[in-house]
Amino acid sequence: MRLNTAAVAALAAFAAPAPALAAARPNIIVVLTDDQDAQMNSIDYMPLLQKHLVDQGTTFTKHYCTIAICCPSRVNLWTGQLAHNTNVTDVSPPYGGYPKFVTEGYSDRHLAVWMQESGYNTYYVGKLFNHHSLSNYDKPHVRGFTGSDFLLDPTTYQYWNFSTTHNGAPPVNYDGVYSPDFTAERVYEFLDEAAEDSEKPFFLVAAPIAPHGNFQLSPKLEAGPPQVAPRHQHLFNDYEIPRTPNFNPETPSGVDWIARLPRLDDTVLAYNDEFQRQRLRSLQAVDEMVEGVVARLEASGQLDNTYIFYTADNGYHISQHRLNPGKECSFETDINVPLLVRGPGVPAGLVKDSVVSSHTDLAPTIMHLAGNPLRADFDGQPIAVHDASNTGPEHVGTEFWGHAFPEGKYGSYVAAAGHLEAYYGLSPADYQADTQMARPAPVNNTYKGLRVVGAEYNLYYAVWCTNDRQLYDMRKDPFQVDNLLDSKKMTATAGPASTLLGRDLATVADRLDALILIMKSCKGNACVEPWRRIHPHGDVHSLSAALAPKYDAFYAQQPKVSFTSCKPGYLREVEGPQHAHVFSGGALDTMREQMHMVDPNWSLWT
Ligand SMILES: *[C@@H]1O[C@H](CO)[C@@H](O)[C@H](O)[C@H]1NC(C)=O
Ligand SMILES: *[C@@H]1O[C@H](CO)[C@@H](O)[C@H](O)[C@H]1NC(C)=O
Ligand SMILES: *[C@@H]1O[C@H](CO)[C@@H](O)[C@H](O)[C@H]1NC(C)=O
Ligand SMILES: *[C@@H]1O[C@H](CO)[C@@H](O)[C@H](O)[C@H]1NC(C)=O
Repeated sequence: MRLNTAAVAALAAFAAPAPALAAARPNIIVVLTDDQDAQMNSIDYMPLLQKHLVDQGTTFTKHYCTIAICCPSRVNLWTGQLAHNTNVTDVSPPYGGYPKFVTEGYSDRHLAVWMQESGYNTYYVGKLFNHHSLSNYDKPHVRGFTGSDFLLDPTTYQYWNFSTTHNGAPPVNYDGVYSPDFTAERVYEFLDEAAEDSEKPFFLVAAPIAPHGNFQLSPKLEAGPPQVAPRHQHLFNDYEIPRTPNFNPETPSGVDWIARLPRLDDTVLAYNDEFQRQRLRSLQAVDEMVEGVVARLEASGQLDNTYIFYTADNGYHISQHRLNPGKECSFETDINVPLLVRGPGVPAGLVKDSVVSSHTDLAPTIMHLAGNPLRADFDGQPIAVHDASNTGPEHVGTEFWGHAFPEGKYGSYVAAAGHLEAYYGLSPADYQADTQMARPAPVNNTYKGLRVVGAEYNLYYAVWCTNDRQLYDMRKDPFQVDNLLDSKKMTATAGPASTLLGRDLATVADRLDALILIMKSCKGNACVEPWRRIHPHGDVHSLSAALAPKYDAFYAQQPKVSFTSCKPGYLREVEGPQHAHVFSGGALDTMREQMHMVDPNWSLWT
């Protein structure tokens, strides 16, 4: 075959991107805060963030973490894999923390490594993972960074007295320095360093600890609100946590241990309001850093070629659902996190409120923007940051294993005491400084959740290790106080009378349950296109399509998500059915449908 000159030139251009294009690869910055809520509108209290990212970029209001706790969420974020695939499901060994990240083989398999290998200079400042500590920071050193300054345990959450390792050197202690300001200064230094290398683009992560609570072990154990720079101490004195319907509700909400919580009294509510004020005040240092970063990019002429992402590892609740300060829950407060993006071609001032995205998508998004191929083991897909339309993916699966860890003076340390023992190898005498601390058994907080948002629906569904189920119609009940599957309520209202989307509740729940059945163990593209695993012919891509009555019998007979017991980690043997039936549309499905008409209880499988 002979090719004409134009075809040869076109082929050559296709095979090797022009050097000018390669040189123009964008810089990418991720600002990752710690425990920052979206639901209490914390970003509204950050004027510089509003000016530089909200006004100049796109806000994704339906962005989620997939596991509402620091280390597992960060591992999800930096690997592009869901926690059931990383199996880093806790903040400390045996189920999580930096040591688990290492033993699961991720030292060489995370975003910074891939970015560096593709020709980027890579930098990280702040908190990487829990249990990344004074004793293991070099076992091994974290790979993949041209420059780094990592906060180290056990002082990671001390705002004024902490240790870091700079470029892997032996840790240095900083006493009397404000941690979020320290992070900002180091970020500026690395930005200067990056600007000096005109050959390579850079990827930089700024991970300040704000607004995480201040947590110190000595001289006395304290797990209180974040501490604040003196210049911000006077702010927000009149602020109160929004009194939304889920705020310390009269009737308990949620299931299992949450449904058994007593109502918070006025002393606790006042403490919690001040706790949230401190969080907002601590975020002011981050707000200033955002402006500092933008100013430096502008000065070095790189602002127009830099994407800036702003997000948080997980959300936060305070007083909602009668909860003391904390995360780890499946409510919107804990899983919904801010996501702001600005950069070349990203629409300015746009708010996307019906596109669902998650932390699983961020590594693919960043790889894609850098012009790198996507990895087959990614469980997410690039977020369409340049797209001005308000449509896109509709589901995200969330998961959690283990205990809940209430924070603050009145958190009662339900799980904290045992947690600290495991975490620091302390004896009870070491931390029972406050004899008021109650120490009941750790609560079971293992569950699978699902958010589905489409044109006609906005739903949350979850199955707990106790086999309690939650279903919230968030178009009517955005604050998740009316669990449609509450067994007491269902019997009170004669159950089946309730409908959702014009269908019987159980009929809708069957579909959501099947979706969790796929999501809870999905890998790769199955997590992006879960309906395809059930409908391989590709004719069902959404909940609304799956709700077609012709599939009722089929979904009624799907194995249901369930657990045989509550475990603190991902032990697959207690996690019930693992495989969904596939709709073939063939003789078997027809028979199933007909049998179901005769006997709704009929099952070929049981
Ligand atoms: C700061 O931390 C160091 C090392 O842990 C400790 O020796 C020192 O006493 C602390 N300073 C204060 C003011 O607590
Ligand atoms: C946690 O679940 C186990 C069963 O898996 C149960 O025996 C235990 O009582 C539960 N603990 C609490 C505090 O609910
Ligand atoms: C996850 O890790 C834990 C702790 O190492 C282990 O016991 C468990 O079997 C692992 N789960 C899976 C599904 O591999
Ligand atoms: C189906 O099973 C339920 C629960 O076992 C039972 O109450 C109901 O009568 C059964 N229905 C039929 C049609 O057999």
